[in-house]
Amino acid sequence: MADPLVLLADRFAAAFHAVAGAPCDPVVRPSERADAQVNGALSLAKTLGMPPRDVATKALESLGDLSDMVESTEVAGPGFINVTFSASFLAKELVAAMQQTHLGVREASDPHTFVIDYSAPNVAKEMHVGHLRSTVIGDALVRALSYVGNHVVRENHIGDWGTPFGMLIEHLIDLGEENAAHELGVGDLDGFYKQARQKFEESDSFKDRARQRVVMLQGGDADTMRLWKTLVLESTRYFNKVYSQLGVLLTDDDLMGESAYNDLLTTVVDRLSQAGVLEISDGAEVVFADGFTNRDNEPLPLIIRKGDGGYNYATTDLACVIDRVERLGARSLLYVVGAPQAQHLQMVEAVARKAGWLPEGFIMNHVSFGSVLGADRKMLKSRSGETVKLAALLDEAVERADAAIAEKNPSMSAHDRESAARMIGIGAVKYSDLSTDRVKDYIFDWERMLSFDGNTAPYLQYAHARICSIFRRAGVHREDVRSVVPSLDDPREKALAMRLLRFDAAVWEMIDTLSPHKLCTYVFDLATDFTAFYEHCSVLKAETDELRLSRLALCDATARVVEQALNLLGIDAPEQM
Ligand code: ARG
Repeated sequence: MADPLVLLADRFAAAFHAVAGAPCDPVVRPSERADAQVNGALSLAKTLGMPPRDVATKALESLGDLSDMVESTEVAGPGFINVTFSASFLAKELVAAMQQTHLGVREASDPHTFVIDYSAPNVAKEMHVGHLRSTVIGDALVRALSYVGNHVVRENHIGDWGTPFGMLIEHLIDLGEENAAHELGVGDLDGFYKQARQKFEESDSFKDRARQRVVMLQGGDADTMRLWKTLVLESTRYFNKVYSQLGVLLTDDDLMGESAYNDLLTTVVDRLSQAGVLEISDGAEVVFADGFTNRDNEPLPLIIRKGDGGYNYATTDLACVIDRVERLGARSLLYVVGAPQAQHLQMVEAVARKAGWLPEGFIMNHVSFGSVLGADRKMLKSRSGETVKLAALLDEAVERADAAIAEKNPSMSAHDRESAARMIGIGAVKYSDLSTDRVKDYIFDWERMLSFDGNTAPYLQYAHARICSIFRRAGVHREDVRSVVPSLDDPREKALAMRLLRFDAAVWEMIDTLSPHKLCTYVFDLATDFTAFYEHCSVLKAETDELRLSRLALCDATARVVEQALNLLGIDAPEQM
């Protein structure tokens, strides 16, 4: 256990329990004035009908000896308790935390299987910035949830089935398979889709062919299936290019497209019917879940099977729930999907619960996110007004980062610069996405995301690279300072140690709220504390050898936590830049 606030809360919980005669939250918070503030006396005073300051004093009396961790305590204001930790306690805790593989981050108390549904672009359609957000946020959640000991299954629920495939296959035939494969494989997915759509709208004979083709596809006709597979294969080739540019964990093994659930769709209908929740409405088989109404305030059904026998997007998502819970043994299902699909997912969840497929304690969570906007605050578009091509966008990020490093560090070799530029450019794009609260929209702004100042990836990466360079100049191995117990006499040293010990809290805040920006805020604060420390406390020119080692130990711990935090966000930390 590393977080000093958690340790303090344990002690105060016991003290307040003694005062109240019942368990009571001590409400321990970080504090501007001291190291921590204990606010529990305020609410307890109401329950006990006593002045809060008296409750605080009583709690302090029943605390027993705190001298192993605390330098001073003081009752302040209306009745909160300010606590100042002792430097030796923080130093000892820090060394202990840095000796743990997870740098003081607690394991999950209830590890289990999570399925994370993310990325999920559509075959023969450009991956848009919404898919970028889903990919980046999903990747960070996969990393953080695995880090604390959960079993995490990644699922890329690509859109690879449905009526548009009739027209897409016919267009493929018209183009000639090889030409079409080339067009798709190089990533001209949007062009392909638009041409198919246009023919479908303009030509009745093409429309007929497309319709017949859908029937053949559903019937499993061998030649049709082969053509369909070409579409899927060439599109995933392009998606994989983007994934490898991004450096995310997704692989072909994680593909679980809509088509993978075809065999389960009749089971969904049968089981809904057995559960007694399936009804006929306007000729379709539907389920009414409580609380969903249309604009006219009439009950809104979830359509399971249309009158013509066709299934819906929702039917597939119900099949997913069954598969994830029953085959994969998942207890938490996360859907990293844009805000517009909120109602769809709510209805799927409501129906799955009604049918008994999501027992109590099983979680289905929509990890929703806002849009990516351009400088004009409208949906991000390319200069010509087209959908932005992700692969080109990511290439541009790397080029821009390369130029920025060349300017900042002209002596760096082209070879070193190339690898740093990739980490910084891609890191910048990811971090600007992750660092804003995901439910909000964010503005895609090259200047800001690539700036070496402020809450950006380059700033954090620079803090890390700077520490690596300090060690190179010191001629000291990082590992060699890891058992040094730092002296924390300067307030900046102490603040830095405190921050480092709160890595655990930051990771858990990200996990509990499924919000990567919480961890971003933490690393940014850490880098800021480090900058303050480094400006005020000489490291290489410290007065004594002992102090030099002590400060190097703080530098090493900072670099490790920054690197690990960035890693949980899916961002690399170069050793020089
Ligand atoms: N392919 C969908 C889209 O592009 C996202 C799928 C999300 N996942 C799901 N299980 N519905 O909008």
